[in-house]
Amino acid sequence: MTSSRLAARVQRIKPSPSTSAADRANELRRQGQSIVNLVVGEPDFDTPAHIRQAAAAAMDKGATRYTLMAGTVELREAIVAKLQRENGLTYAMNEVIATSGAKSAIYNALAVTLEPGDEVLIPAPYWVSYPDMVLACDGVPVTLPCPESQGFKLTPAQLDAAITPKTRWLIVNSPSNPTGACYTAGDYRALAEVLMRHPQVMVMTDDIYEHIRYDDAERVHLLGVAPQLRDRTLAINGVSKTYAMTGWRIGYACGPAALIEAMMKVHQYSMLCASIIAQDAAIEALAHGEDEMKKMRDQYHRRRDFIVRRFNEIGLKCHLPRGSFYAFPDISKTGLPEKDFAIGLLQAEKVAIVPGSAFGENGKGFCRACFATSYEQLIEASNRIERHVQNLVK
Ligand SMILES: Cc1ncc(COP(=O)(O)O)c(C=O)c1O
Repeated sequence: MTSSRLAARVQRIKPSPSTSAADRANELRRQGQSIVNLVVGEPDFDTPAHIRQAAAAAMDKGATRYTLMAGTVELREAIVAKLQRENGLTYAMNEVIATSGAKSAIYNALAVTLEPGDEVLIPAPYWVSYPDMVLACDGVPVTLPCPESQGFKLTPAQLDAAITPKTRWLIVNSPSNPTGACYTAGDYRALAEVLMRHPQVMVMTDDIYEHIRYDDAERVHLLGVAPQLRDRTLAINGVSKTYAMTGWRIGYACGPAALIEAMMKVHQYSMLCASIIAQDAAIEALAHGEDEMKKMRDQYHRRRDFIVRRFNEIGLKCHLPRGSFYAFPDISKTGLPEKDFAIGLLQAEKVAIVPGSAFGENGKGFCRACFATSYEQLIEASNRIERHVQNLVK
């Protein structure tokens, strides 16, 4: 098909750079090479047994059909209960929609709110998908560089300066992919003060890593400190990362009923409903997944401490991520642009990582390494990276 037959909005979208990095690694693996893959952002753990059993039980009892569009009553009740119990946030059933992964909730929300030319503020480094999702919905992604010197977080002054009459959304992802930065209650309070002066701006909180936090990183939600933003905040979450359920594809969005109703319109014609079997599994995860989740988090914690220490020993300065499962070392000491470094590392030592520029202009000079992989693999990866860096800088 010629490109002239495709919609302009599709032609604006670039292939995801993290997928390109994963493709390069998979190609070498197919050729029989032993690759240590630190590209893909998903837990290496299997979904806990009690959750898999809930799915099997669902199928056995005949849960094989469509559900209500917004998700089963039982799943939405479990989501509402989770928000109350864990976040102190009160939502009604018509303020919640279950989707096929958080990704589709984000896309759907942008699709129902953006007019051509509307701007979406995205603090950078950002999750690779946000700008292209905005472009796919005819919006304009406005990336706001948040350097390491400000903890990779958006400042109130930056936010204030970036808002225009066309600003429709601010997206906040805490803990962050790729930097692990976590906003504190104080950070949120200061951002909320700015937002209160700009009532046309809606806020999307991407809370997908909320449970993957270390040390004393407080689990605080924007709405916990700024409830006055409730009628223009959409909270996005899901079970993928917290409960090692990336393949089950269950996410959810909670927000004002009118927005959720609009999202339902797109949902009904694009997806109808999330898989009923996965919905039953997600109920089990939300209601009883805490113990297994904590065990996985302890493992990520140990791996984080190890890989960050090793990067620093190797001479690639690496801050301590306070959440999520990515290390974001500064590779500028090697003298190479991050893309050349990543490709060279893959070719020479068969370790796959993502060049930081994939996450925005100010990711230049950094690379992202996912540490949701086994401790042994991380030891191997760090030894190979060390050898590669020694060869580069000698
Ligand atoms: C920041 C962020 N948000 C959302 C998602 C998507 O999650 P899901 O698997 O629920 O679609 C990811 C997955 O990588 C992510 O890193």
